[in-house]
Amino acid sequence: MFPYEQLRRRPDVEAPNLFAADAADRLLADTAGDAVLQPGLVVIGDAYGALTLAAAERGARGIRVHQDPLTGERALDANAADLGSTLGLPGDGVFTHHPLDESLVRGATTVLLRLPRSLEALAEIAALIAEHARPEVQVFAGGMLKHMSVAMNGVLGEVFGSVQVSLARQKARVLTATEPHPAAATVLDRWPERAFDEATGLWVCAHGAAFAGASVDIGTRFLLTVLSQAVPEARTAIDLGCGTGVLASALASARPGLRVVATDQSAAAVASARATAVANHVAERVTVVRDDGLASQPDASAELVVLNPPFHIGGAVHTGVAHRMFADAARVLAPGGELWTVWNSHLGYRAALERVVGPTRQIARNAKFTVTASRRP
Ligand SMILES: C[S@@+](CC[C@H](N)C(=O)[O-])C[C@H]1O[C@@H](n2cnc3c(N)ncnc32)[C@H](O)[C@@H]1O
Repeated sequence: MFPYEQLRRRPDVEAPNLFAADAADRLLADTAGDAVLQPGLVVIGDAYGALTLAAAERGARGIRVHQDPLTGERALDANAADLGSTLGLPGDGVFTHHPLDESLVRGATTVLLRLPRSLEALAEIAALIAEHARPEVQVFAGGMLKHMSVAMNGVLGEVFGSVQVSLARQKARVLTATEPHPAAATVLDRWPERAFDEATGLWVCAHGAAFAGASVDIGTRFLLTVLSQAVPEARTAIDLGCGTGVLASALASARPGLRVVATDQSAAAVASARATAVANHVAERVTVVRDDGLASQPDASAELVVLNPPFHIGGAVHTGVAHRMFADAARVLAPGGELWTVWNSHLGYRAALERVVGPTRQIARNAKFTVTASRRP
């Protein structure tokens, strides 16, 4: 019996109500059974390593893994290191990390997929598998019922000839997709999507899993209305949790002397933000980095940080990531530099910003959002 309860989430937020594995992980492992032992196993969307390590314990090797968040990759590595000897795993050859591209799924025979929240993300993954996997591939796609919809069957059905639905167990379900149609997948492959935003005059490019897709989030749009007032003399700025990189490209487009670093832990966000910078002709001044918060940025190095913080972790409303981002911004801001944050007013972040970053003033407020500027003393 795989020791699911020993898995941990770190470096992601850990709390008593947040778990590293759930019933969908267990149902996926049980449904796939010995199919994971075929050469050509691919795991997509493993949260903290439950799918990969349970397959490894069963004997799978050479597993190709894609996880969108960098913290998920690090948690899998750390769980493998901690549990490796208990599970009887060799030091290497068990799994490798891959981007969401052909290198991940070429010749795949079995795919374990944690269904993503968004249909766009699922469509991108499904098309990629159908285009490059072996004709006999079996895709086991699982999730918790509260995060699943029948529309997901339809998305899989666009590129797979057969989609079977399992019985539910402990509020989880698995869809099994077979008979890939590579030709249909090629036609439906449209990523990154590109859209022109009239109000801002910016192109927005988005892979399926990127926050807000190829549109501008309403909180971000509100921040954009006041962004010209944010440390106008700054020569360096950071777009923290950049998503599709709208804020980074807006800053770089409006300020020809400014260099911007855009960071996000999501692989889809990073690929999208790069494409957005290219589409807006500012790629030479926008550096996009996949990072957990600002871990790779030096102390006291930036004059402006802009932030639209996440307030979900997976399905749960949780402000832990936002608080970590405030602390990162406080460390990376140069004295006198400012963090400009847009937040849902009901989250009441002002006290935390004051405490963690420094004196905080309200710049704008509407029915839903507040924009604040917090100055590093
Ligand atoms: C609310 S979205 C904002 C995206 C973008 N700035 C915009 O305005 O459209 C928050 C972003 O934070 C990213 N994020 C979440 N946790 C993170 C972490 N630990 N480090 C870096 N980025 C993270 C998410 O991937 C997401 O793209």
